Order: sequence, then C-alpha cells, then structure tokens
Amino acid sequence: MAHPAHYREAHPFIFVMTHWINLVSIVALTISGFYIHYPFLPGLMSVMRGMHFFFMFVLLINLAVRIIGAFTVKSATRLGTREVDTDIKNWLPQKLNRGQMWPWLKYYLFLKKEHPIGAKYGVLQKIAYLFTIPLTLAAAYTGFAIWGPTMDWGFLIAGTDAVGGPMAMRIIHYYIMWGFILFTAIHIYLANIEGTDPSKLIFKWEETEGLQFDAEGRVVGGKGH
Ligand code: HEM
Ligand code: HEM
Repeated sequence: MAHPAHYREAHPFIFVMTHWINLVSIVALTISGFYIHYPFLPGLMSVMRGMHFFFMFVLLINLAVRIIGAFTVKSATRLGTREVDTDIKNWLPQKLNRGQMWPWLKYYLFLKKEHPIGAKYGVLQKIAYLFTIPLTLAAAYTGFAIWGPTMDWGFLIAGTDAVGGPMAMRIIHYYIMWGFILFTAIHIYLANIEGTDPSKLIFKWEETEGLQFDAEGRVVGGKGH
C-alpha cells in the first residue's frame, strides 16, 4: 500500500517533542499511579508519590505548550503536500474531512483496504486526539482535588462534595487512568496498522529523499517511503 509521507512539514520538531514528553509523562503517571493505588513492592511509596507529583506538572505544562503551538506553529494540513497552515486546522473539522467518517470506520474495521486521503488527520483521529484534552483536564481536576496543598480550594471542594468526598474523587481519578490506558492502547495499535513505521511518523521522522506524490496525495516515490 502506498502510504502517507513522513516529512518535516507534517511533524514540526516542537510537536515531536511535546508528543515524546506526553508519552514519558503518561507512562510515569500510570506506573506511579498504579503503585499509589496498589503498592506492589515494599518501600517505594515516597519515590512514587514524588514521581507522580513531578510528572503531573510536566504533563500540564506540556499541554499548555502544545495548545499555544497549535495556534502559533504552522504544519502540513493536507496529507501528501508540503503546504502549511496554522496547526490548529489539523485538530478541527476541515473541508477535506467531509464524507469520510464511514470510509475511515470501514478501514479501521478491516472492511476496506485503503483509507481515505485528504486532511492530515482523519475524522476519528481528530475526535480521539481532541478527547485527550478533556481527559487530561479531568485527571488534573480530580488529582488536585485529592492533593493536600490544593484540595481545599473552593472550586475543587465543590466537586469533591458533589461526588461524595475525597475517596469517591480518588476512585474517579483512578478510572480516568483507565481512560488513558484505553486511548493509548488503541492509538498504538492503529499507528502500527498504518503500514509504515510509526516511529518515523512522530518519534524520529526522517526526511524522505526525492519525495513524490500522486494526484491524491499518496507517496509514490522517494527513498524508503
Ligand atoms: C508508544 C506509544 C505511542 C505511539 C506509537 C504513538 C504514535 C503516534 C503517531 C504515529 C502519531 C502521528 C499520527 C499522524 O501524524 O498521522 C501520534 C500523534 C498523537 N499522539 Fe501518539 N503515540 C504514542 C503514545 C501517545 C500517548 C501516550 C499519547 C497521550 C496520551 C499520545 C497522543 C497523541 C496525540 C494527541 C497526537 C496528535 C499529534 C500531536 O500532538 O501533534 N500518543 N501518535
Ligand atoms: C494531571 C494531573 C494529575 C494530578 C494533579 C494528579 C494527582 C494525584 C494525586 C494527588 C494522587 C494521590 C496521591 C496520594 O494519595 O498519595 C494521585 C493518585 C493517582 N493518580 Fe494521579 N494525578 C494526575 C494525573 C494522573 C494521570 C494522567 C494518571 C494516569 C494516567 C494518574 C493516575 C493516578 C492513580 C492510578 C492514582 C492512585 C489512585 C488510587 O489511590 O486509587 N494521575 N494523583
């Protein structure tokens, strides 16, 4: 299958970095969170709590940088071309996404071999990526509501009272972790069935030499495309 390109305009360096930081933070928060919930080895609680408290700030600062970047950095907004536009366009519905929901679903359900070509991200990809923002904010809200230094802040107490106390809030925070695990598992799986090496797409892109596109924006030439 001809597949979409990996090239500099599709993955500006800053977004490669924010994605890496996201990945490391989520892994660290999941390991430490699991440990806080169920200490599977003796004697590591203070290290794990320290790790959790450090990475929760890293995750939130990284989210802020990613959002500012979406409005200030330009990236490719159409698969298979080098045209660039403000990155936020990749996150919202575009003309190029129209009518592609079903073809994308069929591709994901193995009913169709090729996926539609158009915008950089498909319809379901956009929904999933946007969903990571409220999910992160929900983790932050429920997390700060059970964190000693912030738990008595008015807007956090209001939520804690509404759900029935800090223990209930803690359980909600725990379930949010499963939301991240589910998202990440599906995300990694889908990145791998794309037919190209996902590490090249986002982790360590390499400029394809002599890149050529066909009329539909598929890569048809270039070294190692
Ligand atoms: C081994 C783990 C992961 C792999 C293999 C992976 C793979 C990818 C790939 C290939 C893309 C680019 C898709 C494209 O341009 O067509 C992408 C984008 C994205 N990934 Fe991941 N990812 C991983 C972990 C995560 C985690 C843990 C999160 C957050 C919870 C995450 C959130 C995102 C988001 C929000 C995007 C949109 C692009 C952007 O922020 O610029 N990923 N990922
Ligand atoms: C984004 C901001 C976050 C904040 C402010 C935060 C804060 C906290 C706090 C204060 C605790 C309680 C620690 C203790 O009792 O010693 C905690 C526990 C926990 N956190 Fe987070 N966290 C955040 C993100 C995350 C993320 C992204 C995950 C998972 C992907 C996660 C998973 C957990 C788990 C599983 C627990 C244990 C809950 C339990 O005891 O059942 N947290 N977090």
